[in-house]
Formats: sequence, C-alpha cells, structure tokens
Amino acid sequence: MTNKERLEELRARRSEAMLGGGEKNIESQHKRGKLTARERIDLLLDKGSFEEMDIFVRHQSKDFGLENQRFYTDGVVTGTGKINGRSVAVFSQDFTILGGSLAEYYAKKIVKIMDLAMKIGIPVIGINDSGGARIQEGVLSLAGYADIFLRNTLASGVVPQISAVVGPCAGGAVYSPAITDFIFMVDKISHMFITGPNVIKAVTNEDVTFDELGGANTHGAKSGVSHFTCENEVDCFQRIRTLMSYLPSNNMELPPEYDYDGQEKNLEDLNEYVPDNPNKPYDMHELIDRIIDEGSFLEVHKDYAENIIVGFGRINGRPIGIVANQPFVLAGVLCLNSSIKGARFVRFCDAFNIPLLVLEDVPGFLPGTDQEWRGVIRHGAKLLYAFCEATVPKITVIIRKAYGGAYDVMNSKHVRGDVNLAWPSAQIAVMGAKGAAEIIFRKQIAAAEDKQKILDEKINEFNEKFLNPYIAAERGFIDDIIEPKDTRKKLIYYFDLIGNKVDVNPRRKHGNIPL
Ligand code: HXC
Repeated sequence: MTNKERLEELRARRSEAMLGGGEKNIESQHKRGKLTARERIDLLLDKGSFEEMDIFVRHQSKDFGLENQRFYTDGVVTGTGKINGRSVAVFSQDFTILGGSLAEYYAKKIVKIMDLAMKIGIPVIGINDSGGARIQEGVLSLAGYADIFLRNTLASGVVPQISAVVGPCAGGAVYSPAITDFIFMVDKISHMFITGPNVIKAVTNEDVTFDELGGANTHGAKSGVSHFTCENEVDCFQRIRTLMSYLPSNNMELPPEYDYDGQEKNLEDLNEYVPDNPNKPYDMHELIDRIIDEGSFLEVHKDYAENIIVGFGRINGRPIGIVANQPFVLAGVLCLNSSIKGARFVRFCDAFNIPLLVLEDVPGFLPGTDQEWRGVIRHGAKLLYAFCEATVPKITVIIRKAYGGAYDVMNSKHVRGDVNLAWPSAQIAVMGAKGAAEIIFRKQIAAAEDKQKILDEKINEFNEKFLNPYIAAERGFIDDIIEPKDTRKKLIYYFDLIGNKVDVNPRRKHGNIPL
C-alpha cells in the first residue's frame, strides 16, 4: 500500500464512522425530533474544539447477527473538547447505532474517558439517548453499566458530572445520570423511568403515558430527579455551557472568576422592601436578582419544592451558590422536599469550593401527618447536616423570619456560618408571636374575661421583646444588623474577606448523613 492509499483508507473509515448508523437512521432520528450524537457535541462545545477518541472501536460480539452489524464507535461518541476555553470530557450516545444500546466495548469507551477526566481533573458531560443494555450482549452489557456506575461514584465530588438526558433512559441505566451532579431533560423527547408504562399497567393496572411517567416536566417538578427542564436541545446544551461557567474543573480548584463590568446598583428602595405586615409575602427571586451581579442567577431545580430557591449567581464576578427561602410559596416553610433540594445543592457547592449565600425568611418546618410520616425529621436533618459539614465560605442574611429549628438549620452562626447579618426586619425567635403567646400565657388567657384583649396584649409584648434581631446581635449570633440598601456592598466585602477561609472536619472515612 502506498502512503496515499493508506491515507485514503483512513479517511474512508473515518467518513464511515462519522455517519454513525447511516443516513436512514439519521433521518429517523431527526424525525423523532432529536439531534444526532455529533450534532449535540457541536452544540455543547466551543466550535471545532472536539477531539474524538476511540472512533474505530467496534464490538467483538458474534451472537444474534451482531457480527454483521459492526459499526465504528460502537454507538457512543467519546472525546474531549472545550467549553469557553476550558477542557471537558464528553460522551454522547448514538441512537442511530443499535438504538444507542450499551454493550461491552461501548462501556469501555465511556470508562476510558471518565478515567482520563479523573486523572487530569476535568468535568464529565454525558449525553444520554439509549435503548438501555444491548440485549444481544447480555451480562457484558450489565457489567459495562456497573463499571460506569463505579466511576460515577468515585468521580463524585472530584470532578463535576453533568448528564443531558435527550431520549430514552430506562431501567437500571437511569442510575448513571442519577449519581451525577446535575441532570438536564428536554420537553417531549426525554424519558427516564425504572419500568415503563406497559410493565406498570401489568403490575399495578395504572394507565400512564411516557411523558406523564418520566418526561422532563414530571422529573423537573414532581420527582426532583431532573434539575433543569429545557424547551429544546439547543436550549439544553446552551444551559449546560452556562452552568459550566460557575464551576471549577475539579475539587482542587476554585470556581472561575470574571471581571464584573455591570453598573453598580442603586438599592435604596430595599430599605422598604420587606412588607410591614410580617405575614405578607414578597418575591425572594426579585431580591436575589437585585443583590447579585446583573443577570447572573442560574436557578437549579426551578420547578421543584419552590418554597426554597437554590441556584448559582455571582457577586462582583465571583461565583456563589444561593440558598433562599421563598415567602411566596408556603410562606417559605421548610418541608421534606425543600430540605432534600437544599441539602444536595449545599453539598455540591461544598464539594466544589463554591461559597454559599443564605437568604433567610423561614417560619419553621411544615407541620402535618403527611410530612411527619414521610420522614420530615430524617430529611430535614439532611439540610442541617449539609450546612454543618460545609467548610466553604458561608454567609447568611436574615431578611425576616428565622423561627425555631429552621433558624439553626439555615447556616446559623452556631453551625459555622462565617458572617451572619440581619436586616432590621429580622425576627429571630422560637416561634411566631401568636403561637408563643398562646402557649406561654395559656392560663392567663383562659382565666381572662376578655380573652382576645389579653391575647392581643401578650402578642404585642412578645413582638416588642423578641421579634427583632437585637437579642441575637447582643450575643454575637448576628455579626451586624445592616441597612438593606447596603446588602450587596457588604456581600462583596465579606465574600472577598473570607474567600480563603479554612475550616476542617474531623478525619474519618465518611460521615453518615441521614439518607
Ligand atoms: C439492542 C436495541 C435496544 C437494546 C433498541 N434497540 N433498544 N437493540 N438492545 N436494548 C434497537 C432496535 O431493535 C432498533 O433496531 C433500534 O435500536 C431503534 O429502536 P426502535 O425500537 O426502532 O426505536 P423507538 O421506536 O424510538 O423505541 C425506542 C425504545 C425501544 C423505547 C428505546 O427501542 C425499546 O423499548 N427498546 C428496548 C428497551 C429495553 O428493554 N432495554 C433493556 C432495558 S434493561 P433496528 O435494527 O430495528 O433499527 C436495561 C438494564 C440496564 O437497560 C441495567 C443496568 C444495571
């Protein structure tokens, strides 16, 4: 063979590989409303930055006619590339090849790229679109999944792992994305479930559609499995790029800082932001937007447990994680779902050196048998545990209510909050005035002729005495009471001050967070 012929062969083989399962299957993929594995990578990465590995890998199976269906890549495109100039590892499952089904060599490719990512400390982004275990390869496929699950687990907290689910992802296959840090799903084309509608019908006699069971909206709002619900694939990959801009490449790095060139804000009106009536809600979203860098908020789990808001933002160009109670939904109460949501986010930020800002307005934990029987004790403990163990810089601003155990939980001074500030509207107490008066003065109220009068008097007395930030400030539980208009200024100062703070946890194999 001449050099020319060798090069021609290489090019011919590569061209064949680039066609995946062939023109016909690419057409069917587009007809399903989905992009191909390579089109997705192009949307995700900086233009022209993708370097593919293992393009010539093919399966070695000889069963059930597979010997006549030996596609290059074996159904998954793997490699490295850049997002905004920073390296990432990528795998993209190719549904045009045997339904993107996962098998021995396919799994080896994913494992190889994950091992490389771990060694060099770069994030892994997995694009999932697959019919699951390649049935013809039997236990080799199952073994391949387990090899990936192990990598997902070992990489957890070492490099960020992001999953885009842009097609079917069913059965045990769901557990790879489920272990990763963030899942993105796309309306109409994404489906995740352990058992599909047919099995459910047979076992429980329930009728449910694919979308109702495991579509993007279901997992975004009901189950909380998915963190981002996207309108279409372009939106999905754009948002993954945005998310990456807040994250370090690995747990040994700090998140990337940018020069903030937005205009400094006039926040005078924040002094009147909190309604005088303590039971009147206001929108915490708006407050977040006002005090962080213009347009920098990226909300996580937007439609799930909306009584708590979590997401990334920037303060003067410095990425932070924000955890905020939302008075607009259930008065911002903590419940089991919001505790789980908050805890997972806090632990992610802590693992990846992202400082935390807590904006607090919480009337306590949600009462009721439903919450108690579903384990609000166990789940609430997750959020408490997460804040207690987090050693990243942590700032709390108490905006209004900080009642009961929720005061302790929401990054109080006592659980290693580094800087704890309060607005003058802050109310730090075991409970609200009415509840408190009814308990403490029950006998006096019962004995009184005009019960309402004495109750009102006691409520006023309690309000005057306890529902303010001064008692906590007298003891140093609050470092300062600030004018609301100065909040951003103070946050810029303090996040800069404590940027390199060091806290350590005891040496141990791992803690035992109540799961
Ligand atoms: C081998 C598969 C496959 C699989 C799909 N194909 N899934 N080949 N193993 N698991 C092939 C199809 O035969 C077809 O080949 C091509 O991929 C496209 O599939 P279609 O069915 O035509 O596509 P569509 O109508 O869009 O339906 C997609 C689907 C369906 C819903 C995913 O294919 C399906 O139900 N597949 C089987 C799913 C499944 O039961 N997987 C095993 C789950 S258990 P041709 O040649 O006709 O184009 C599992 C365990 C993991 O995954 C355990 C981990 C611990």
